[in-house]
Amino acid sequence: MKTGLIETWRARLPVTAQTPVITLGEGGTPLLRADRAAKAAGLPPGSVYLKLEGMNPTGSFKDRGMTLAVSKAVEAGATGVLCASTGNTSASAAAYAARAGLRCVVFLPKGKVAAGKLAQAVMHGAEIVEVSGNFDQALALATEAAKAKGFALVNSSNPFRLEGQKTAAFEIVEQLGRAPDNHFIPVGNAGNITAYWKGYRELGQTPRMFGWQAAGAAPLVLGRPVANPRTLATAIRIGNPVSWKGAVAARDESGGAIDKVSDADILAAYRFLAREEGVFCEPASAASVAGLFKLARARRAPEGLSVCVLTGHGLKDPGITARFKPRVRRVSAGGRIRL
Ligand code: F0G
Repeated sequence: MKTGLIETWRARLPVTAQTPVITLGEGGTPLLRADRAAKAAGLPPGSVYLKLEGMNPTGSFKDRGMTLAVSKAVEAGATGVLCASTGNTSASAAAYAARAGLRCVVFLPKGKVAAGKLAQAVMHGAEIVEVSGNFDQALALATEAAKAKGFALVNSSNPFRLEGQKTAAFEIVEQLGRAPDNHFIPVGNAGNITAYWKGYRELGQTPRMFGWQAAGAAPLVLGRPVANPRTLATAIRIGNPVSWKGAVAARDESGGAIDKVSDADILAAYRFLAREEGVFCEPASAASVAGLFKLARARRAPEGLSVCVLTGHGLKDPGITARFKPRVRRVSAGGRIRL
């Protein structure tokens, strides 16, 4: 039976016997060997693994942080949770709030949330606030609104989110029997890279951290906020990451890098993973593999064992698949088709 990550990692998390556990059975996601991806990067077989975070209950890594953030909100007596989101955080918050019997209010940038994510927020009964602005502006509104009595903000500025998310690093070390040499991860609001780095550090086993931003939304690469972030990878369309300092620390302390990948590179990696590895992730997730491929093209793919995190499931964003035209043959019932 899957009991969820609070039970699995209780000793390493800020919970007590009194903390009510709100779980959907998150965590314990597959770490998949990806030899075709290794080959495409000019690396030996067995040197690239994919951490499939889209296999969490709501289809993204956000569930790791949300089980803890919502459990702690209930423990503190909250009657509602609130967040801004590019989609996945709101889907996860809505699901865990439904399970806990809390109100959930989500602030979403208008027209920039993928269809699957919106469907989840709707079906889990979240109250939706559509913001005519980008994620950063939505987060400012949500942070202000969270001052209301009884509400807990469950964005990654909430420390319990990062505590939950760090468990993915524990799992990887358990699955490999050691930390990888290199860790590739997409970066948006920068909570996840910060959380993984915390997890690895707590184990005293640390890879080099390679974070990847979309080229049109790459504040950490530019070294300054981006007022109008642009990318088709809507999950990481963020111009002023909350965990800026955490991401920079992960990069510098690990001897890694934070760089950018173009939307074309993201789409190419997204398609590669689906066609060659049988793994359907959402575009933002493919930024990790796009980053590995970018380094490989420059003959700078790092040696040793690399883990690429695939943060969300491909079904989250069906709209983007319209860019890929399948060859469809038509036949009427009772007719014949030659293969
Ligand atoms: N990948 C996916 C699929 C995401 O949804 C996000 C962030 C990231 C990567 C980046 O992670 O923000 O910790 O650096 N999504 C947030 C949201 C912002 O609202 O769902 P990060």
